[in-house]
Amino acid sequence: MHEELDAVTVEFDAEEGIGTLTLNRPDALNAMNGQMRADIETGLERLAERDAEEDGVAVRVVVIEGAGEKAFCAGADITGFSGVSPAAFDAHGMRDSVIEFPAPVVAKIEGYCLGGGLELALACDFRIASASSRLGFPEVELGLLPGAGGVQYVSRLAGPAFAKELAMTGEHVSAERAAEEGVINHVHDDEEFEEAVREFVETLAGKPPLAIRAIKDSGNVSVETDLREGRKYDRRVFSTLLETDDHEEGARAFAEDDYDPEFVGK
Ligand code: COA
Repeated sequence: MHEELDAVTVEFDAEEGIGTLTLNRPDALNAMNGQMRADIETGLERLAERDAEEDGVAVRVVVIEGAGEKAFCAGADITGFSGVSPAAFDAHGMRDSVIEFPAPVVAKIEGYCLGGGLELALACDFRIASASSRLGFPEVELGLLPGAGGVQYVSRLAGPAFAKELAMTGEHVSAERAAEEGVINHVHDDEEFEEAVREFVETLAGKPPLAIRAIKDSGNVSVETDLREGRKYDRRVFSTLLETDDHEEGARAFAEDDYDPEFVGK
């Protein structure tokens, strides 16, 4: 599947179960406008439709990347910024569609990842960056704060001191610094970046998809509820996973040494 929306390209490799959304405004460093926010939601809906058509699970992983090598996304589109109503910048719906998408979503960060672009990456389950990437919250220079929860989410990952430093100074930090602070999962040298991301994504795609989805939910529940509720949730889902064909398949592969399991999401 390959579909060009106005600001996002949607692709789906049915063989591997890997979907890709490419933010596609490279001349504006993939700056996020209303069209792009809408297209990200539409793109995820298109991928979810694939699941609905499949007996089992079709979409195992989604990658979000920026077109060109200069930027993942240089933040909200600041052309014609002033005098516009807050609704014009509301990225919460788009963020929620990423957080709530059933399969894991990987932000593949190459180049600038700023403002709303960093907030989009924070909505993803994983952030993998090339070594030369630069991250930051420049909103303060416009008299603003990151409007889609950026300070809140960096605080959860790295603590409020780093979140405040990023958002108050507006300075760009290296991928390496962001990784040290826990905001980035992995940093790879630019030359090895493509291959390293592919390997990570393929590894996830090869795992039992219902367990992967349950783990995504469990991680999300963990930041939204207390430990007691979270453990109850895990126990419930664990019982459901015990009933799946994929669990049986995994157990069989473990028992029979030379057998490669095939997980179908049932
Ligand atoms: N919104 C709209 N257009 C943007 C943009 C944004 N957030 N960020 C970059 N662009 C556009 C530039 O206007 C420029 O367009 P042009 O070629 O038509 O003039 C093009 O992308 C390339 O950007 P440029 O500034 O020339 O590249 P650079 O390498 O010199 O600098 C940045 C890169 C990211 C440091 C710089 O573009 C920048 O600071 N952008 C704004 C980031 C920002 O404040 N984002 C948060 C908004 S809340």
